[in-house]
Amino acid sequence: MSSDIAIGIHDLSFATTEFVLPHAALAAYNGTEIGKYHLGIGQRSMSVPAADEDIVTLGAAAAAPLIAAHGSDRIRTVVFATESSIDQAKSAGIYVHSLLGLASACRVVELKQACYGATAALQFAIGLVRRDPAQQVLVIASDVSKYDLDSPGEATQGAAAVAMLVGVDPALLRIEEPSGLFTADVMDFWRPNYREAALVDGQESIAAYLQAVEGSFKDYTEQGGRPLEEFAAFCYHQPFTKMAYKAHRHLLNYCGADTDADAVERAVKASTAYNSVVGNSYTASVYLGLAALLETTGEDLTGRPIAFLSYGSGSVAEFFCGTPAPGYRSRLRTAAHREAIDRRTELDYAAYRALHQRSFPTDGGDYPTPAQTTGPFRLAALNGHKRIYEAR
Ligand code: HMG
Repeated sequence: MSSDIAIGIHDLSFATTEFVLPHAALAAYNGTEIGKYHLGIGQRSMSVPAADEDIVTLGAAAAAPLIAAHGSDRIRTVVFATESSIDQAKSAGIYVHSLLGLASACRVVELKQACYGATAALQFAIGLVRRDPAQQVLVIASDVSKYDLDSPGEATQGAAAVAMLVGVDPALLRIEEPSGLFTADVMDFWRPNYREAALVDGQESIAAYLQAVEGSFKDYTEQGGRPLEEFAAFCYHQPFTKMAYKAHRHLLNYCGADTDADAVERAVKASTAYNSVVGNSYTASVYLGLAALLETTGEDLTGRPIAFLSYGSGSVAEFFCGTPAPGYRSRLRTAAHREAIDRRTELDYAAYRALHQRSFPTDGGDYPTPAQTTGPFRLAALNGHKRIYEAR
């Protein structure tokens, strides 16, 4: 289970949006009993991007503190995982590479497989580092989760980016082998190229997710992975936080273990602290879960196995284990992460709806964006079909 050299996440930073919509405002508008949001799906608020924020500005804001802390001399690869891509050809990572002033001797690529993409990026990064242990890989997961207004999915929107520096002797989390893998061709959630908002069959998507939990854990066991009882905590992909609870109960059932509610809560609750107020951040979600777990649990998790279940609709899942490195607690970015969440400005429902309906004309004209974000980077305009970004 342990490999010759320790590779994993050296540092992790996340960013979220300028605005936030409390679920109470959504419930007041659509007449939903608030208990359905707060208890039924486990969400209290959702991050909403400003008119001049997108996956690039969020991704750059998440990555900038990593570059400030560690420099960029060893970064020879940037992998940008997203499913809310802004271009069919050019990688969003190239804009981030430019905004952060990274060296030209670098490969930059964008990866997609729904919410699973960041885990593929992490595993590819580990492979690159194993080949060249001197290099670090910058993995960025950045997404804006958008469903149609007045649809059941609307309450599960959100937006955030997580940036991770992957290298040898990681200060935060060592990633173990093996991984358990699972792929199935299902139409549970998808977004055709001509749509901004995703399409989803809600109940089918939950069933597909649970099937993938089972399938990936089965493969993990067959590959010689740890038994379930060795894990100190579980980080699940969280389209809404109650999904982590459903997933864990399903896994315990599958393994014939006790599904006692307290045990389920102990295993997953700390990992849901950020997602419950940020919402679904697609590729970033499971790593936002990791940040929440490490930063909000009262326990010292040094050397203790943490299970990860990364799921992306369509569908692909991966089950794997990570162990927090000695001294990891002094490397956490707890204050900055809480500030990123607390600094958001609350929107009323009408302002949220107007932002949701906003999109650029497609005629190639010059369309400056209103200056709304107070984050470090902004999308200044769409001009001649080109996105113009600037540091603030
Ligand atoms: P819905 O029809 O709005 O809600 O769909 P519901 O009727 O299923 O109720 C939700 C829960 O609230 C239920 O709990 C109700 O009982 C409870 P459950 O039975 O499931 O435990 N409830 C209440 N609880 C307390 N007080 C009340 C009350 N009323 C009801 N008064 C759904 C919900 C999540 C399906 C919808 O929001 C949706 O379609 N969301 C988008 C899809 C999604 O998130 N799917 C999750 C799995 S797929 C995935 O994770 C991948 C994804 O991230 C995309 C990717 O990979 O790229 C989405």
